[in-house]
Amino acid sequence: MRTLLFFATTALVIPASGEEVTYSRDIAPLLQKNCIVCHREGGGAPFELDDFDSTRRKANTILRVVESRYMPPWHAIGGDIPLVGDRRLEESEVALFSKWIEAGRPEGDPADMPPPRDFPSGWQLGEPDLILTMDEAYELSADGPDIYRNFVLPTGLLTEKHIKAIEFRPSSPEVVHHALFYVDTKGRAREVDEADPAPGFAEMPVGEGTGRGLGGWVPGASPRPLPEGLAHHLPAESDIILQIHFHPTGKPEKEQSRIGLYFGDRKPERQFTSIQLPPVFGAFSGLDLAPGAAETVVTDSFELPVAVRAFGAHPHSHYRGKSLSMTAHLPNGDSIVLLDIPDWDMDWQEEYRFAREIPLPAGTRLEARVVWDNSAESSDNPVVPPVRVRWGLESLDEMGSIDLFVIPEGDKKQAAAAMKKLSTARKEHLVWKAGSHIIEPDKLALFGKLRDNAIARFDANGDGILGREERDLARKSLQAVLP
Ligand code: HEC
Repeated sequence: MRTLLFFATTALVIPASGEEVTYSRDIAPLLQKNCIVCHREGGGAPFELDDFDSTRRKANTILRVVESRYMPPWHAIGGDIPLVGDRRLEESEVALFSKWIEAGRPEGDPADMPPPRDFPSGWQLGEPDLILTMDEAYELSADGPDIYRNFVLPTGLLTEKHIKAIEFRPSSPEVVHHALFYVDTKGRAREVDEADPAPGFAEMPVGEGTGRGLGGWVPGASPRPLPEGLAHHLPAESDIILQIHFHPTGKPEKEQSRIGLYFGDRKPERQFTSIQLPPVFGAFSGLDLAPGAAETVVTDSFELPVAVRAFGAHPHSHYRGKSLSMTAHLPNGDSIVLLDIPDWDMDWQEEYRFAREIPLPAGTRLEARVVWDNSAESSDNPVVPPVRVRWGLESLDEMGSIDLFVIPEGDKKQAAAAMKKLSTARKEHLVWKAGSHIIEPDKLALFGKLRDNAIARFDANGDGILGREERDLARKSLQAVLP
């Protein structure tokens, strides 16, 4: 069946009889559309594919990687919703490469070449409204454990702003596993930073005014503005906190990142938030990968207490993540696969944006599924022979979850009330999960405390975890006390 289909689609694109596939007319436009954003000078790929000669020489490798779908890199291939910036080639486009090689890789008539495509050198989204740079470089030693380090970037802004987009530019991308951005309106992070002699500081202070997230950066991600009418609020005189997860490369490195902020000129008309399943990147999902286990599955589900419009999703896992998906089960019985990554690759993480907003009525059940492969056969396994792996913050630990970005429905007042309801339901879901699993105390002090509190209050039989009935009771009491 598969072969038949393949021939059927190839047949469609064989150029009219007598016309052979040429570089200038057929291949160059394809490379321009799907490849040279990375395969050009400064584009991040290890070689360029922007002229006849380099393409001719690499033709066989190109055919191999486009047929296997290794290139262009794009991993969210199974969902029902079209995604912005989908880089995948059509079957007919893949076939053009093999036709071209069969024809002897002819250049064709240079007059058929498409006009060259311009790429912004430097900032991908254009010149930012404000550029913030780490005031000193952070020095990372050749090896040792991963490091989480926070850096204060004062904005010096005297008026409030509305952030439409953030672009992150690391100076040594090889050492940055990922970066997250936060707002600090109270200068607390500065105090912690001053007490630490090295650049930056280790642990984010917790409390009012800190910790509101502004998104992040991972390798392979493209910076993208928020949809029309949405923005992150940035109060006057606040600081941006840059939290970087460093992964040593085997030689000493220095990192001095820059972030570019792009402002909207008006107050945003709509508010948005995200729902992460499982919450806290799976910290409370009892993740425990046995050495050699080829498939460990964690699922989590959450019922929407209010109607929302979903506009994007952000998956995250580490090396052993195998697949991630999120499905919405609507109250009318319909199901929508919002995101499906059947073959996760930590090197190509994207924040995905839906091509249109997806209305999800109140009562919709969101279901997330994350699968890990800790077998020796997995080429992504960083430790072979495999070892036992549990949840943790380091790259060699594991985590996994999907954030769904949503806008509550309704006018301003209704949306504000809906936002509150959503936040309560999310907290309740978190405490519910926290109570049901043991998390190693050294892993994450803050969440360890949350769990301890849940256990102290609801663990009636004293066995150290919350069983089903205890959780039901916890859920009911929380419903009564949460605002
Ligand atoms: C988003 C960036 C990006 C895009 C788009 C992209 N590539 Fe790549 N490509 C890379 C990177 C980075 C590597 C090297 C790392 C790797 O092999 O994973 C690479 C590697 C390759 C290789 C070498 C593979 C090997 O096994 O040696 C080929 C050939 C290639 N790309 C062809 C293409 C073609 C053809 C397209 C378009 C149809 C394309 N790439 C689109 C980033 C990209």
